[in-house]
Amino acid sequence: MRPITGAAELLQLPVPEPEERPVLVVDFGGQYSQLIARRVREARVYSELVSHRSTVAEIRRRNPIALILSGGPASVYSDGAPKLDSGIFELGIPTLGICYGAQLLALELGGRVDKTGAGEYGKVDVHTDDDGALFASQPVEQTAWMSHRDTVVEPPAGARIVATSEHTPVAAFEDDARKLYGVQFHPEVAHTPHGQEILKNFLYEVAGAAPVWTPAAVIEEQIERIRAQVGKERVLCALSGGVDSAVAALLVHKAVGDQLTCVFVDHGLLRKGEAAQVVETFDGLYHVPLVHVQAQERFISKLAGVTDPEQKRKIIGEEFIRVFEEKARSLGDVRWLVQGTLYSDVIESGGTDGVAETIKSHHNVGGLPADMKMKLVEPLRMLFKDEVRRVGEELGMSERMVWRQPFPGPGLAIRIIGDVTEERLETLREADSILQEEVRRAGLYRELWQSFCVLPAIRSVGVQGDSRTYGYPIAIRAVTSEDAMTADWARLPYDLIELVSSRIINEIPAVNRVVLDVTSKPPATIEWE
Ligand code: XMP
Repeated sequence: MRPITGAAELLQLPVPEPEERPVLVVDFGGQYSQLIARRVREARVYSELVSHRSTVAEIRRRNPIALILSGGPASVYSDGAPKLDSGIFELGIPTLGICYGAQLLALELGGRVDKTGAGEYGKVDVHTDDDGALFASQPVEQTAWMSHRDTVVEPPAGARIVATSEHTPVAAFEDDARKLYGVQFHPEVAHTPHGQEILKNFLYEVAGAAPVWTPAAVIEEQIERIRAQVGKERVLCALSGGVDSAVAALLVHKAVGDQLTCVFVDHGLLRKGEAAQVVETFDGLYHVPLVHVQAQERFISKLAGVTDPEQKRKIIGEEFIRVFEEKARSLGDVRWLVQGTLYSDVIESGGTDGVAETIKSHHNVGGLPADMKMKLVEPLRMLFKDEVRRVGEELGMSERMVWRQPFPGPGLAIRIIGDVTEERLETLREADSILQEEVRRAGLYRELWQSFCVLPAIRSVGVQGDSRTYGYPIAIRAVTSEDAMTADWARLPYDLIELVSSRIINEIPAVNRVVLDVTSKPPATIEWE
């Protein structure tokens, strides 16, 4: 252990090894704050998002190996613009400011920021100084993604300018002595081709962080934590069929074995073969105690005649809780409930103000019954979705299960426009399974954020053989996306569309027309309901 100097409150704390010290991304409300944290982790350095309201003592207690100040929508000059406790700049922690973060560094440390009136948006050519630490081993001329109105016109006192663009005199600055760095552009987005290298230069060369962190490191740590948390008590987990609850359940099972019981409420709104796959994986492969509740009829009868999308969600959510509670009660004294909460849920519930403590309470199937007095086990709370998948792979889950595209809790009920009946469910399930099969066969499944079929509430005229038909249409919806906040309609190959269309028409008698949804989000949403 190295000796610690400084505030008395730190003296009792062990100093973690450099590879265990986090990079703290200070959130100023920018749209890319989460992305910065993800990029740092992709560089194999553990990072967390923290609020700009963090105090000097809080930051010091975390003993970060570096700080990254995010972008944000405010002007540093506007009333109530988010600031950082200025004592933090005196801690000697290597700091990289991005966009708003860079402007704040300049403003606080003797530089100058101007409202030049001419903002810069989009791809911009920047000229860099290859002597600079951030741009070492990179092309002198490179492209960067800008999105700002104010701009740094004078770097912090003692810092030198290491990149410029046509409209931005200080596109990047460095103060090697004080370890302060700023970039006006966004290295975290894919539109800045050398962005990840810039981040790596900062992390490895400037801050001395070692590229050793992997999501799998979480497994051992979580197993110990879960054991300590639940002791000898029993634990319950609701499986939804999705990857998050599955990985969470497997982690908990690894930690406490058969103290865990999984409850899988089959609401009959899953895709073809999905329920069987959950049972096969958990019961068959991993031998996790599993209660398979066949509640299909209960859900279908509750949904009879309901056409309003929000009403459907509400009914399904409430019924799910009811069924789950009944089951939980019949299992006796269980104190703990596993939830597959992800880091993005934790962050998003905090809004632009940084990280909050509460989880967003959407009416999701699998959500926590509000009045169930159970304590939570959340083993994925610090992981992003892609990292959960890596952990799933590490735990030996099948490729099919790990890489499953997101599927909404209310399932096929919100992909059947209008009335949800057994017959319409069957039609949609068959069509969807054809689409999934062909998309996988074409090797496109993992490239698409989601690909699925929708059954609209209309019928149209067709002609098959010599006779006129009056059948259902099926809509194909396939999108690419990073995070579901925005999405682009996927340009599926024509051959694939043709194949899917003819198979659906030939194999499903109730369907006589296939259409393709060519709308992005916004203006449309990904789901139709
Ligand atoms: P939209 O349709 O709003 O969907 O663009 C964004 C993402 O959220 C999923 N989604 C849901 N997931 N319960 C869920 O668990 C829901 O009620 C729900 N509605 C939409 C959708 O599949 C997409 O990935």
